[in-house]
This record gives sequence, C-alpha cells and structure tokens, in this order.
Amino acid sequence: MQALVTLPGLESFLIGECKRCGIRVEGVEDGWALTGDDARGAVGRIGTLRALAEVVWSGPAEQLPSRLPSAERLWFEGQVINGGARCEAVRHAVLRACGVPQSVQPDGLPGTLAIVNRQGLALVGEALAWGLERRRSYRVALMARSLNPTMARAMAMASRARPGDVFLDPFCGSGTVLAERALLGACRLIGRDADTGAVDAASRTLASLCLSTPRDPGSEAAVTAPDADIRVGDARALDLPDGAVSAVAMNPPFGHRFGRAEDNADLYPRALREAARVLCPRGRLVILTGDRRHLRQALRACGPLWRVRSEARVYLGGLEPTLGVYDRTEAAPPPRREPEID
Ligand SMILES: C[S@@+](CC[C@H](N)C(=O)[O-])C[C@H]1O[C@@H](n2cnc3c(N)ncnc32)[C@H](O)[C@@H]1O
Repeated sequence: MQALVTLPGLESFLIGECKRCGIRVEGVEDGWALTGDDARGAVGRIGTLRALAEVVWSGPAEQLPSRLPSAERLWFEGQVINGGARCEAVRHAVLRACGVPQSVQPDGLPGTLAIVNRQGLALVGEALAWGLERRRSYRVALMARSLNPTMARAMAMASRARPGDVFLDPFCGSGTVLAERALLGACRLIGRDADTGAVDAASRTLASLCLSTPRDPGSEAAVTAPDADIRVGDARALDLPDGAVSAVAMNPPFGHRFGRAEDNADLYPRALREAARVLCPRGRLVILTGDRRHLRQALRACGPLWRVRSEARVYLGGLEPTLGVYDRTEAAPPPRREPEID
C-alpha cells in the first residue's frame, strides 16, 4: 500500500489528479490518499502531491507500536498540532518507535516519513519521493510570502482551468499561482501586485517556466513561454476593462505574517468588488485567506455579486486558511474606480 501525501484539506484535488493519471485511490484520510498501485511513475504529473511513501504502519497516533523499522533518516510532520504539548508527545512516540533519526538534508530523501494529521492519525512509511512541492523548477524568485506550490496548484484547479482562459491573480506576489495555472494548459495570464519587487519576481518565475525540465511536477505537457501581462497594480482599482477575465485566483495578505489585519477591512471588500467588475458573468473566483472575519464581511458587503460554491479549511504551515470558491452571478458589475497606486 502506498500513501500519496498532500496538504490536509486538498485531498479532493489529489484524487482528481490520481484519476487523471490512472491511479486507483482506495482510501482517503486528512492529508493523504492510499493506493494499491505503484504511483512512482506518476509523481511528476501530480501537482498536489508532496510526498509518496510505502506504508509501514498507520493508525491512531497514541497507538503507535513501540517498535517499527528503524529510521536512519526520519522526517516528522505534526500537521496541525505543531508546537503544542500533544505534538511533542507524538514526536517522542514516533522517535521511540522508529529510533533516533539522523538529520535529513533539504534535498535528501528521508528513510522514513512520519506524519500525524488533524484527526490524530499517524502514517509511518518508507519514503519513495519527498519534497515534491519544493522541486518546481520555476521557483527561481522565491520570496518569504511565496505560496506553497501544492496549494497554488489546488487554487489553479479550483478556478476550473479551461483552454482560452484569461486568468487573473490581482495579488500575484512571486507568481506561484500564475505558474501553476500555466502548467495546467494554455491561457492568458494577468498578474498585478502593489510591490515592484513582487512584480519582478513574478516576471522571473514565468520566464523560467518555459525552461522547465521533465522532472518538474506538472510539466508533462510542453510549457511554452506563457502569454503573460505582469505589472504593478492595485487589486482595489484594476487597470482592466469590465468583464475582461474568465477566472480570478487570489491569495491576499492574511494580516498575520504578511500585511496588517486592520488593513484588510478596506482591502478585502474593495478587491472582491473589483474582481466582480473585471470577471465575466459566471466566471469563477478562488480565494485563499486566513482572515475569515474580513472575508465574510467582504462577501456580505458585495451583496448578490458572488455565489458560494465551496469553502474548505486547509492546512498550510501551521495556519488553517480558508480556500473559498465563488461564482460570479449575473448581478450588474460595480462601477470602475481610479487606481491609487502609481
Ligand atoms: C500573500 S502575498 C501573495 C503571495 C503569492 N501568492 C506568491 O506565491 O508569491 C500577498 C501579495 O499582495 C500584495 N498586495 C498587498 N496589497 C495589495 C494591493 N492593494 N494590490 C495589489 N497587491 C497587493 C503584496 O505585495 C503581496 O505580494
């Protein structure tokens, strides 16, 4: 039995990609899917995959057997109990069961993966592939704010990628979401960010896409230089005509590690109204944010502009942001406003 490991909350995206690759999914837990097939040949084609392991043991973390195959090199991840006393207890149990590990080099393959998910289930397995999300060759311009590519792939998938899309990320940062959308197939990409450093990073990210090697997850299709328009811009007042784009995906500041929560009270409703203006009727909006309060307030303030399709909590490096998917209704678009950023 093999375990395909993703970010908890993204299992449905992983299953979709497995189906496309002909891998049967036999069980799903929070953060991984199980298969009897050998998935090694498909790891480069599954963009929501973080690691692949041959399962040695799985079950409730508190029932970890006291002996398991020894871990020459162990990678432990407490998916949501990071830092807490419970996490420490589980870490000790894993170390007791697997042995004291040697450290794993950033690009090295750990001998054993030990993961505890949000339900307190543990997965222990021999690592067959690891750190897949970090291996994207377009990651040439990383910034502290850069999104996890696994998450960015799910956002691009949730936007219902279709040929001929005009895909906008109005908070594009270093361009991770744009890059993942480009890997899903031909489209026109539009990226805006208030920060010139981010715009430069996003431009370099997209320029590097056409140099992607076959090792790159998701790059099975030949990637040509994307048709991209990346500029400094204000998500609250975009330099785009009404109804000009077919899909919008955004990862605005959460106001936690990046930005200030109090600024989101103004930023979120204005960005959502602006997205409604530039999106065509029945176009789709995908938002990833940890600031649920301001997201809810912004959606209320937008009245009938958006229809909720789904809202899910995902695990992302110790935070549990919401991945929201919304459809643009046919309600009349809000009026255009003048940009405030030069
Ligand atoms: C969380 S980061 C996005 C990270 C991005 N997904 C990536 O992978 O690099 C949020 C971005 O929003 C930008 N930003 C903040 N306020 C903005 C505004 N009013 N208009 C456009 N961009 C803005 C910031 O400069 C920052 O790059």
